[in-house]
Amino acid sequence: MIPQSFIQDLLNRIDIVDVIEGHVPLKKAGANYIACCPFHGEKTPSFTVSPTKQFYHCFGCGAHGTAVSFMMEYIGMDFISAINDLASRVGMQVPASEKKEYEGSSGFKASGENKESSSQNMFETMSTITKFYKDQLKCSERGISYLKKRGLTGETAARFGIGYSPAGWQNLAEIFPDYESPILVKIGMVKENEEKKRYDRFRDRIMFPILNLKGKVVGFGGRIIEKDEPKYLNSPETPLFEKGQELYNLFAARRAIRDANKALVVEGYMDVVVLSQYNIEYAVATLGTATTPRHVQKLLRQTDNIVFCFDGDDAGKKAAWRALENSLAQFVDGKNISFLFLPEGEDPDSYVQKFGKDSFEELIDQALPLSIFLFQRLSEKINLQTSEGRTKLVENSKPLLTQITAPILSLMLIKRLAELSGINQEELESLLQIKRVSSPLRRSRILRPSPMSPCRWLIQILLHDPDYSSKLDRELLSECVENSDEKAAILSLIKFIDAHPIVGENTAIPSVITYFYDSPHRELLEKAEGSTLSWDNEIDLEAEFNGALARLKEMKYKQRMTKLQNKSLNMLTSDEKKELQRLAVLLG
Ligand code: UTP
Ligand code: MN
Repeated sequence: MIPQSFIQDLLNRIDIVDVIEGHVPLKKAGANYIACCPFHGEKTPSFTVSPTKQFYHCFGCGAHGTAVSFMMEYIGMDFISAINDLASRVGMQVPASEKKEYEGSSGFKASGENKESSSQNMFETMSTITKFYKDQLKCSERGISYLKKRGLTGETAARFGIGYSPAGWQNLAEIFPDYESPILVKIGMVKENEEKKRYDRFRDRIMFPILNLKGKVVGFGGRIIEKDEPKYLNSPETPLFEKGQELYNLFAARRAIRDANKALVVEGYMDVVVLSQYNIEYAVATLGTATTPRHVQKLLRQTDNIVFCFDGDDAGKKAAWRALENSLAQFVDGKNISFLFLPEGEDPDSYVQKFGKDSFEELIDQALPLSIFLFQRLSEKINLQTSEGRTKLVENSKPLLTQITAPILSLMLIKRLAELSGINQEELESLLQIKRVSSPLRRSRILRPSPMSPCRWLIQILLHDPDYSSKLDRELLSECVENSDEKAAILSLIKFIDAHPIVGENTAIPSVITYFYDSPHRELLEKAEGSTLSWDNEIDLEAEFNGALARLKEMKYKQRMTKLQNKSLNMLTSDEKKELQRLAVLLG
């Protein structure tokens, strides 16, 4: 953990205005100070410093941060030096024991001062364990014969660093005499029961090491040998390992992905390994989770073409749809995302072993482009012969199409939707943009109509006053259907605030998002916080908060209503009919 209380204290004691003023001449403007931005060239000032909230924000270039980040980004200090410098100004002593903890947990970069940084230790420990499991496989008849039965050659197993974690509870104690070391728990390899007794997380499993993009082992997937549950056990999220962003085999596959000009995303470890044995080297797998926007982003940095490969069953279709939803906002024109469904009962592993490389690659070439899959799936349960059906198609397309920022894809999809719905393109465009909701909820509670999504608006409110976190209806939020980026950001913001009640106690504290330095939500949160600069104490936060909740509720009701309306009338129970009436009244 970051010694958060110390940074918090420090940032409370110093004044960002003093710190910045030493380098950039500031001018008072209302409650804030302004200057020409020191981070980019400009003639009219858009750099703003808030003395009440202790952060700076540039409306021009987006530069954003606290006194600490100013020292880092303007002066060029590393994190530790910036903390030390600021602490010495106010006569505070940086707690020595906590010094090395800065690193890793908050994503702040390592500095020269803490070479024996814990993340280095964590990586080294992982690598020792990887070697241990590999050695164990060599002398495990059981492990070897299982892999043989699965059709793997020794060469393939070695290439993937596959190992074996023996049965028994404390095998890692053999290689770590200090089995009580906190690091083993921190990296997720050892667990502790209620009596504080420790044991290895992975026992009697085939071990697949998961490497990050720097080639370092950050976690494992462990497959059971006998039939048992769970079939695969994965490392938990740790400071080294974030499932929403790592992809199995991406490190080794980078070259092949470039050469093949595509990445194939499959579901399982075994699929990746077996495909590679058949010389299909450009496959990666998610790690027991759905495909996230970050996965997609990461892959699109490596290649222009992503092919998602799923089983042909219902679960596969669902997973594919999730992947599609999480790809839309990431999509960039000139890239291709397509979907391959295997015949029912097959996965890439079984398919390629049965039918061979060429046959599998033919399937890849025939994968469904995103645009086709999207409308195929959307119109699956809809009768496009009726005008109701066509209207429904447009309605269902809306939340998806509005996420797309790639202009050509967006145009293409609108054209296609125009064909399918019989509504012309122009009308569609205006339909898809205009949010014409007039509900009693909205009219009565929102003081100022805001074009901003409720999640985004709530993020601003939380940044302005984290205390609102406790008043937020979590269930409502988790059911909310809006833009996944903003939803993900608000969820992680709440999680942070909940875990750090100190934040909520003092609403004048410097920006919460100091702790989101390396987070995927950083940019969004910084923009949101910047937007709160113009909020003075006069803003009726309570009303804004309630307004945003009302809009969330409205979205939820609408979603429910659509669901009920999709049922044919004689399938509705009488309770559902009543509910429908009630919803209709609520929504006006
Ligand atoms: P599958 O159940 O499709 O298994 O899980 P598989 O990959 O075909 O495995 P084999 O061929 O039986 O060995 C696909 C992926 O889902 C995750 C794992 O990442 C797995 O590779 N998974 C599955 C888990 O995390 N836990 C489980 O219990 C099962
Ligand atoms: Mn399989």
